Amino acid sequence: MRRFGVTVTGTGSYTPERVLTNHDLEKMVDTSDEWIRARTGILERRIAAPEQTSSDLACRAAEKALTMAETKADDLDLIIVATLSPDRPFPNTACFVQRKLQADQAACFSLEAACSGFIYAFQVAGGLIRDGVCRKALVVGAEKISMHVDWTDRNTCVLFGDGAGAVILEATEPENDIALAAEMGSDGTLTDLLTVRGGGSENPPGPEILKQRSHYLTMEGREVFKLAVNAMVNSASSTLNKANISSEQLKWLVPHQANIRIVQAVGKRLGIANGNVYMNLHKYGNTSAATIPICLDEMNRGEQLQSGDYVLMVSFGAGLTWGSVLLQWP
Ligand code: UT7
Repeated sequence: MRRFGVTVTGTGSYTPERVLTNHDLEKMVDTSDEWIRARTGILERRIAAPEQTSSDLACRAAEKALTMAETKADDLDLIIVATLSPDRPFPNTACFVQRKLQADQAACFSLEAACSGFIYAFQVAGGLIRDGVCRKALVVGAEKISMHVDWTDRNTCVLFGDGAGAVILEATEPENDIALAAEMGSDGTLTDLLTVRGGGSENPPGPEILKQRSHYLTMEGREVFKLAVNAMVNSASSTLNKANISSEQLKWLVPHQANIRIVQAVGKRLGIANGNVYMNLHKYGNTSAATIPICLDEMNRGEQLQSGDYVLMVSFGAGLTWGSVLLQWP
């Protein structure tokens, strides 16, 4: 039996001021606004300033979430930052967030599950709260993914953007737990489909890495597309089955925002009407671990989430990694 339940008391998000439009990209690589709109649904994305770090983006989102939750930073006893664009290889980005927020009482770590990072972090924080290890957690998806983007590669540079989204999770009575069911999975045989090959322990940083440009991300787009649709449909179906909730009962599907065609295919295969599938990728592109918490915050502040609504978050990313969580909004 669960000792505690978990609830959300605040959400926040932040995207950098600088807007990079499809027309801007037309001047950088051989692409067109028409191609990007039609093939991805993205119209523009936000790019962090050179001096802005992922922890800076995380803090801006976290401050808004803390204000909504009427919580002081030093009441937090856990900070998890999901990111694939850490401030430094180590120490972890959550420790930078702790220092900047002065959240002196929190245990801090980062979690890397690429675009699925927020779903994984949400699950880990929930488990620690349910076990009574922590009572008040800040969970952030924060990415300065522009640091990994090769701005000469039209196959990838049109897709990504920077941003952060945050939630405050708190202990509650077990019967008020907002997470009804969840599922997570990975396939490590497909690490090479979407990756940054250089700069880690396999190919440590050095002049060769820069010469080969292997510090930039590469992706087998078509293959990833197919796998993304299948994995998200399977994960979402499994979570709905576990909770014995049908897709017709869902108020919202909140999918990872990688491509409008992926999102619409997932919604269609699950039998969810377009109007119940949340999308904001036209404004931000793919912000990796930040897509889902940015969506949640927009929906929450836009009063599109009512108490009792069933909300299914589902993600997919490099690794491969995927996961889903069914919430009943508090
Ligand atoms: O967050 C993690 C998950 N990531 C994803 O889920 C991304 C999954 N993949 C995708 O979203 C899509 O595969 C892409 C948007 C990356 C590409 O769309 P696509 O419809 O799969 O295009 P494609 O790769 O099959 O390329 C079709 C054509 C190619 O030209 P040819 O070979 O037919 O002459 C590409 O070279 O489109 C060309 N192309 C472009 N043309 C103009 C590729 N990128 C561009 C571009 N502008 N930016």
